[in-house]
Amino acid sequence: MNMLEIITKKKLGQALTREEITHFTRGAADGSIPDYQLAALLMAIRLNGMTARETTDLTLAMRDSGDVCDLSAIPGIKVDKHSTGGVGDTTTLVLAPLVAACGVPVAKMSGRGLGHTGGTLDKMESIAGLTVSLTEKQFVDQVNAIGLAVIGQTASLAPADKTLYALRDVTATVDSLPLIASSIMSKKLASGADAIVLDVKTGSGALMETVEDAIGLAKAMAEIGQLAGKPVRAIVTGMGQPLGTHIGNALEVKEAIDVLSGRVRGDLLEVALLLGSHMLVVGGKTEDTDAARAMLVAALDSGAGLEKLRAMITAQGGDATCVDDVMKLPQPALIREVKVGRTGYITAMDTEALGYAAQAMGAGRVQKTDVIDPAVGYILPVRIGDAVTADTTLCTLYARNEADAIKAEAAIRTAITIGDKPVTRPPLCYAVVTAKGVETLN
Ligand code: URA
Ligand code: CA
Repeated sequence: MNMLEIITKKKLGQALTREEITHFTRGAADGSIPDYQLAALLMAIRLNGMTARETTDLTLAMRDSGDVCDLSAIPGIKVDKHSTGGVGDTTTLVLAPLVAACGVPVAKMSGRGLGHTGGTLDKMESIAGLTVSLTEKQFVDQVNAIGLAVIGQTASLAPADKTLYALRDVTATVDSLPLIASSIMSKKLASGADAIVLDVKTGSGALMETVEDAIGLAKAMAEIGQLAGKPVRAIVTGMGQPLGTHIGNALEVKEAIDVLSGRVRGDLLEVALLLGSHMLVVGGKTEDTDAARAMLVAALDSGAGLEKLRAMITAQGGDATCVDDVMKLPQPALIREVKVGRTGYITAMDTEALGYAAQAMGAGRVQKTDVIDPAVGYILPVRIGDAVTADTTLCTLYARNEADAIKAEAAIRTAITIGDKPVTRPPLCYAVVTAKGVETLN
């Protein structure tokens, strides 16, 4: 098969055959097709799109480009959850223990931070000793023992996506619906879970900023799941402001512990309960999301969720005493409170810029080889719609040094709009999407 012909076809806006898609996907995985040809094809796909059939063929070809994880040794319906990426979004660390405490096994493969978004693996590694690198057997054994494991993808999982994703990152071809849908779904299908709940973000901190685009992405992924024989539910949730109040790796672990301890409630808990209730439904616990939510709340109130988090940290080699004393998590050199400085209302946030502010403090990587500082980031207690005065705390900075703190304060002030008129709070959830259709909630 000729790569030049494949590129030409897509350049002219024609649909590729399954054989053509399999050919370039294999070539991406084994290195036999040069980057420049793959990059040209990715741009043609970005500009001319793919049909639903092509998107599914690409997903399955990427899934089959490496190992497919076999979780059949774990009894029950194994449920996975995946977010398209956000800021202050540590739902996994809140909902995975709660869902496991309700008796649905959670076998989850998570990712690292990318661009302005944080990554669950980076957050977990702020816990002393904890590892996210488990073999498939260790993964299965841990889920059988305690009902819960959150690990990194093995190197052999969807290698074609690794190549194509790295190229997309540097060729301005990330923002393509068929490429995002196939990238996420190929990895989810390869990770071996029986059912998948997707959190598709919309708003200023999301990959798909408009609700319409987010729903389109959600539909595409639900349809791929249907064709691959796995139930998928995609929940479109708001990322018009950071989800939790803590942004940064150890800070987000602390917030998850605070929530599971019952000390803190708010949007992070709400979205965790929402996604978690859909996980219990696809996991076969109940057919009713309200009943599922009540189970999760019971696991929160009894402390069973917190105990599951403790068990997971211990099983993965981490020091679980941080669950009882969050001061054992990495601490920064400098902590400083910043005041709003004027009277008004919080009217908007540039969430992407807020993510980059944390990244610049050392909470994320600018280059692949950068080492994350787990202690840095900031707490942002204000929400869109809040009335503020000069003396209201805008944020508390956790910085490596004075220069970083000054830069972060300026970036955060620029990213947050304070106006004179009140605005309504943005919704937390916009739609629930399955292969059967879209239920719009706002
Ligand atoms: N996350 C992924 O894994 N792939 C994408 O293409 C976008 C977000
Ligand atoms: Ca943006």
